Amino acid sequence: MRAWITLFAAAISLAACSDDHGSGVFGPPTESTCPTGSTLTYDNFGKSFMERYCTRCHSSELVGAARKGAPSFHDFDTQPGIKGVADHIDETTAAGPAATNKGMPPDGLRPTMEERLQLGEWIACGVP
Ligand code: HEC
Repeated sequence: MRAWITLFAAAISLAACSDDHGSGVFGPPTESTCPTGSTLTYDNFGKSFMERYCTRCHSSELVGAARKGAPSFHDFDTQPGIKGVADHIDETTAAGPAATNKGMPPDGLRPTMEERLQLGEWIACGVP
């Protein structure tokens, strides 16, 4: 009985999640972990990753049509902007033990698998 309730609750929260976002760009959390001695930082990884793959749509400097549909409050030209929605970035773009999410970017140059794994790690470490 208890297992059914747990399953049911999980099904509801999954449904709520995809309803909230209303799009197919989301996958599950990657369940990435932060290894001891991780060296990834905003300066040596995150900034260049976002500039290469994301900020041509997701930037606080872009408004209206220039965002090409990228939602507001998802601006990745600053470290706090990334940190604020890091879970969403994990679920759309990163790779880890539980998932490889390739919902973002929607077109153009794509990150390599290695870069998606690094993104998952960097987010798991708290976007340092
Ligand atoms: C060509 C423009 C473009 C690029 C480049 C792009 N995105 Fe997006 N992004 C979008 C659009 C459009 C949506 C809305 C998609 C939808 O809801 O179907 C979106 C949605 C998202 C969302 C979900 C927001 C929400 O809560 O609904 C996240 C997170 C995201 N993008 C992260 C990224 C990351 C990280 C990158 C770089 C790896 C990236 N995007 C590159 C256009 C872009």
